[in-house]
Amino acid sequence: MFKTLRSVIRFRKFETDPVARRLARCASVEDLRTLAERRLPKGVFGYIDGAAEDERTGVRNCDAYHRLEFRPRVLRDVTDVDPSTTLLGHPIKMPLVLAPTGFSRIADSQGELAVARAADRADITYSLSTLGTRSIEEVAAVNSGAKWFQVYVWKDRGLVQELIERAREAGFETLLITVDVPVLGRRERDVRFGFTLPPKLGLDTIIDGVRNPGWTWDFLRGGPIIFSSAVRKDVDSDAGGVDAMGLAEYVNKQFDPRLVWKDIDWLRSIWDGPIVLKGIQTLEDAVLSADMGVDGIVLSNHGGRQLDDAPPTLELVKPVADEVGHRLDVMCDGGIRRGSDIAKAIALGAKACLAGRAYFYALGAGGEQGVDLVLKWFDEGFRRSMALLGAKKVSEITPEMVRWRRS
Ligand code: GLV
Repeated sequence: MFKTLRSVIRFRKFETDPVARRLARCASVEDLRTLAERRLPKGVFGYIDGAAEDERTGVRNCDAYHRLEFRPRVLRDVTDVDPSTTLLGHPIKMPLVLAPTGFSRIADSQGELAVARAADRADITYSLSTLGTRSIEEVAAVNSGAKWFQVYVWKDRGLVQELIERAREAGFETLLITVDVPVLGRRERDVRFGFTLPPKLGLDTIIDGVRNPGWTWDFLRGGPIIFSSAVRKDVDSDAGGVDAMGLAEYVNKQFDPRLVWKDIDWLRSIWDGPIVLKGIQTLEDAVLSADMGVDGIVLSNHGGRQLDDAPPTLELVKPVADEVGHRLDVMCDGGIRRGSDIAKAIALGAKACLAGRAYFYALGAGGEQGVDLVLKWFDEGFRRSMALLGAKKVSEITPEMVRWRRS
């Protein structure tokens, strides 16, 4: 009997590292999201997970991927699948870029550094946000790979120029200009939870903190959360950035509603590398972007965080790529949770996808190890999807391989 038992019982090796133990029970980005929801205070999770107003666009971004079906081809010898491609004229390992996310330190005290290190290890391009809580120079010091710098063209153009110059100095090679925030969208979860940026330890956060001791300990040890790059010396606090009280207020005042197309010319005049506009949501603006001579666009509604009922980005990919794909590189973000989602966007004509929340959940669930895991899944998932679709090369992922479900 013991012999029989021995032959059938399998115990998982006991994992001594608590983070690895936690992550070992996750198999998908949705699992990481659930884990992040358990570990983070409600307000912090709500800020990451939430979208604008009724969050319909946030939900529809993901639904669009669920409504697109594959038409896989078989018997095509997929022994050697090659996920590499080119983007903005450079070879890349796979058609994925990490989207800029502000305030990464609210999920884990390493913040942008954890993500930039993981991206470097995985050879995936990382984009640093203007609202990053680690500076341009700190990120460059831990990531020698491909890096983009995301720019909010703020009212203070002197500050914008200073940031762009620092990004160039530090080796960031592409500017990603966000164009969908003339004013900030209304994120109602933040209103409901009374969430402030950076998080403050009010009574509710303290109660929440008792429920989330891992996050609270890490948050308290991590030092003040500041915009490490994006503050001028004259608004600096002792900590080297704008202080807690002024932070959200300062940023809200900086979004510039007067921004127009000709401001792109100004950016062109101070930056000679590739320029990508992020936040294009119509065919008309995609054509204008091509007319402006920018190198790429990201079809994006800011993860549903700006204008609710803006179109799900996946639905824009084919019409836009058909119209302007030969003039600039068309990318998309919003709803990318799996390698198969990347394959769907590529089939419709995107050159690459950007993913933000997927790694933000991972950061909240398991810090840097969580980000490593999610990047590994994207890589494996994209290769597996290519094999199952019968595509050995990215160029073999064609529009005939997908169709919209009717119901
Ligand atoms: C910032 O870009 C945000 O969406 O909160």
